[in-house]
Amino acid sequence: MDSLTLTRPDDWHLHLRDGDALRAVLPHSARQFARAIVMPNLKPPVTTVAAAAAYRDRIVAALPAGMPPDRHFTPLMTLYLTDDTSPDEVRRAKDSGFVHAFKLYPAGATTNSAAGVTNLRHCWPALEAMQAIGMPLLIHGEVTDPAVDLFDRERVFIDEQLIPLRAAFTNLRIVFEHITTREAADYVTDCCGRERTLAATITAHHLLYNRNAIFQGGLRPHWYCLPVLKREPHRLALVTAATSGRPCFFLGTDSAPHARHAKESACCGAGAFTAFHAMELYAEAFERAGRLDRLEAFASFFGADFYGLPRNTERITIRRETWTIPQSLAFGDQELVPLDAGSTLHWRTAA
Ligand code: DOR
Ligand code: ZN
Repeated sequence: MDSLTLTRPDDWHLHLRDGDALRAVLPHSARQFARAIVMPNLKPPVTTVAAAAAYRDRIVAALPAGMPPDRHFTPLMTLYLTDDTSPDEVRRAKDSGFVHAFKLYPAGATTNSAAGVTNLRHCWPALEAMQAIGMPLLIHGEVTDPAVDLFDRERVFIDEQLIPLRAAFTNLRIVFEHITTREAADYVTDCCGRERTLAATITAHHLLYNRNAIFQGGLRPHWYCLPVLKREPHRLALVTAATSGRPCFFLGTDSAPHARHAKESACCGAGAFTAFHAMELYAEAFERAGRLDRLEAFASFFGADFYGLPRNTERITIRRETWTIPQSLAFGDQELVPLDAGSTLHWRTAA
C-alpha cells in the first residue's frame, strides 16, 4: 500500500499554548486535523467560560492566513477543573456550546497543574452537575503522592481514584487521557464493551517508544513527558488497545511544546512536541502493528462518536515517503524540537 486516504482526523488532546507559541504550533495541527480538544493549562489556567471564549478567539485569530477556504480547524474548548469550580460554571459551559469538557489535573501532577484539584471531594458538586448534563471529565490519571514511584503513578491512580470515582458517579462520562500502562489499557478495555461512559486517548509517542528512549546513550530531555514513557510490555498493550478497533480508544497527541532551552536544561519541562508529524507517527505505529486498516476509525471516528459530534466529511491522504524529521522548528523567537528529530519516517501527509 503506497497511499492511505482517510476521513480527516481530529486530535482529542492538544496543548496549543498562547501568544507567539500558539501562532507557531497551530498551523501544524490545522494542516492535519479538523478539530482538537484544546487543553486549558495556560498560566493562568482557563477556568471560566468567559476565559475559554477569549482563548478560542485568540486561537481562531492565530489560524494561518493561507489556509484553503474549504479547510476549517475548530478548537473544541475545555475548562480547567479546580477545587472551586461551581455547578453554575458547569451549566454555563454546557450552554455555551463550545466548551466540550472539563480537565482534571491533580494538583502538582504536571506542567501548569498548581491550580489543579487537591482532593476530588472538593469537586463533588461540579461532578454531579457534569454527570447530570452529560459534560465529559478528562482526567490526567496520575497520583501525586511523592512516595509513589513515578512509573507507578498511573496504575495507583486507577485503584485509588478512578475506580472510586466511577463507583460514585456511574453515569459520568470520562476520558482517561494519554494512557501509558497495561493496567490502564486493560481497565478501559474491560469497561468498553459494557458501558459507554469511559474512553481513553493514546498518544503516538507512547505507541512508538518505551522508556529506554529517555536514556538512549545519555539523558534525552525531549522524550520526557508526563505520564512518563513506560516499559516495553506497557507499550505493547497500548498498541494492542489502539489497534483493537474498540471504540473506547481514540487519538489524542498530547503534543506539548516547550522551547528548546526549556527542554535542554537542568530541570526540563514535561512534554513531547508531536503536532508537526502527528499523523505520520501514528501511521508508523499502526503499520508496524500490521493494522493500517484500523487507523481511520481510531483517528477519525471514535473520538467524535464519544463526544457526540458529527464525523468529519473531508478526507486526507497519507503517502508512503521516506523523510527526515527536522532538527528544529520556528517557535516565535525561540526554537522547538519535534520529537525524534533527525529520525526517518515512512509516511507523509499530503499537503
Ligand atoms: O508531558 C506533558 N506535558 N504532560 C502533561 O500532562 C502536560 C503537558 C504540558 O502542558 O506541557
Ligand atoms: Zn496533555
